[in-house]
Amino acid sequence: MILAPSLLSADFSALGKELEDLRQAGLTWVHWDVMDGSFVPNITFGPAVIKQLRRESPLFFDVHLMINEPERHFTPFAEAGANRLAIHAEACPHLQRSLAEIRNLGMQAGVALNPSTPLSVLDYVLEDADMVLIMSVNPGFGGQTFLPLAYRKIRELRAMIANRGLSVLIAVDGGVDPANAGQLCDAGADVLISGSAFFNFPPYAERLRTFTDAARQP
Ligand code: DX5
Ligand code: ZN
Repeated sequence: MILAPSLLSADFSALGKELEDLRQAGLTWVHWDVMDGSFVPNITFGPAVIKQLRRESPLFFDVHLMINEPERHFTPFAEAGANRLAIHAEACPHLQRSLAEIRNLGMQAGVALNPSTPLSVLDYVLEDADMVLIMSVNPGFGGQTFLPLAYRKIRELRAMIANRGLSVLIAVDGGVDPANAGQLCDAGADVLISGSAFFNFPPYAERLRTFTDAARQP
């Protein structure tokens, strides 16, 4: 299991320090929630912020684009140093081309699915993705209640990936905490993304241990 803390719940006035604290606590990934005030109601940060923090952190930057017309911004995010770019299937009429473009720019490609979006949208593009991000809340805000529909969706996606002999990672995002971590990993999640249930409970090294222990117990 990989735990990717979502910076949405971090201290925005001290992002450099937060990234360093994560590294020292043993985290290897960090999740950036980019919101445009259009695809989702909220607005957060963009490539300029990520680019500056890239210079200060060796962590794997997992960037979740909750924006319309994401393909207009792939190059700036690549130049900012994003390691993976996840785009929403709901925001991409040309999903196959968009995923291929992300890979062509040297990043890993992720597809995010809103809770109501069926797995069938992945049918013809699963081979073009390195990760599928199952949203277990409707995107836009941190601290929302986990939607249990994610369990079945993760199980079915796990089977779909296995049937095709692929090694696509499954990430789950929204309302993830130590109480559901075990069941999520048992269902087939590889990556747990957590904002409020991580950052609100320092010290981070201890919180990482709590999540890791919980992930082992279905
Ligand atoms: C929701 C974001 C999530 C969010 C998770 O729109 O994509 O990454 O930060 O926050 P929590 O863990 O608080 O639900
Ligand atoms: Zn996210």
